[in-house]
Amino acid sequence: MQQKIDELRAQMNDSLAKVRDSKALYELKMQFLGRAGAITALLKSMRDVPAEERPEVGKKINELRNEAETKFEAAEEEIKQIELQRRYEKEKIDVTAPGRSAQVGGVHPNTLVKNELIDIFAGMGFEIFEGPEIENDYYNFTALNTPKDHPARDMQDTFYLSEEYPLRTPTSAGQIRAMENTKPPIKTLRPGTVFRSDDDATHSPMFSQMEGLVVDKGITLCDLQGSLEVFAKKIFSDNVKTRLRPSYFPFTEPSVEVDVSCFECGGKGCRLCKGTGWIEVLGAGMVNRRVLENCGIDPDEYTGFAFGMGIERIAMLKYGINNMKMLFENDVRFLKQFKD
Ligand code: PHE
Repeated sequence: MQQKIDELRAQMNDSLAKVRDSKALYELKMQFLGRAGAITALLKSMRDVPAEERPEVGKKINELRNEAETKFEAAEEEIKQIELQRRYEKEKIDVTAPGRSAQVGGVHPNTLVKNELIDIFAGMGFEIFEGPEIENDYYNFTALNTPKDHPARDMQDTFYLSEEYPLRTPTSAGQIRAMENTKPPIKTLRPGTVFRSDDDATHSPMFSQMEGLVVDKGITLCDLQGSLEVFAKKIFSDNVKTRLRPSYFPFTEPSVEVDVSCFECGGKGCRLCKGTGWIEVLGAGMVNRRVLENCGIDPDEYTGFAFGMGIERIAMLKYGINNMKMLFENDVRFLKQFKD
């Protein structure tokens, strides 16, 4: 029996010296002190020891058990410390390491121009509204004096979702909604995305427009030119002049194209204005009597002007961008060049 006890002690000390983590330590403890453990088994085997030897053997086994308990407790404490240390090492962060620099984004040139336009026109008392991108045929064409067989329907190639629902080709559709919903005086600005089957360096199948509409008693072409001159000076430069050239749109009469004197060369002629001294910036006109009538407004009492400009076009002119695609590619090297 004494030999058994000594063997067990040696075995325990040996294993304890090798244990590295708390899980292995626990398993080892069970091997010796658990309900099916070796020391527990030894205690149970006392039954077979002759009665006179029992006190002596019992004492020895108890000593072993006490020793085991003390040693396991000490080992547990030690391993707990080691594991804590290991965790500290693993979770260590170097607070003195240089931080990763964050990339600062910018506002897209289109948004910059759109916001600037909104500021300019809001300053003149225009209210801002947005309309749907899917229009029905009536708002996109018929109410704008372009009935089904009207040749002006061919002026722009339309994307149709169905015979009744095109993607809106001009923001002008919003004019009708404005006049249907409000009584004059009306002064509204309508930014929005429009869609046309058109694609080259200065055209894109999807682009943004800004539509303006003013309806009141006694509105004339002079009011149109005056408002647009304020806009041109604010967005381009104080020295620009504007001029109106006759044009045609079914929903305005008379219709005009508005040019600004070239802000690059001051009107002498350069590459930007193709030598003409003038740059075309938008289409406009006096609201056609038919359009007013379509919206239940008496054209003998009220008159109005409307204009529509391409936001990308203004951004290209303002920032000297020569390919419209750049505005849609979202290349950060390009976008980084624009600051609020
Ligand atoms: N809708 C025209 C276009 O898209 C612009 C325009 C708007 C012209 C309002 C006159 C009046 O080209």
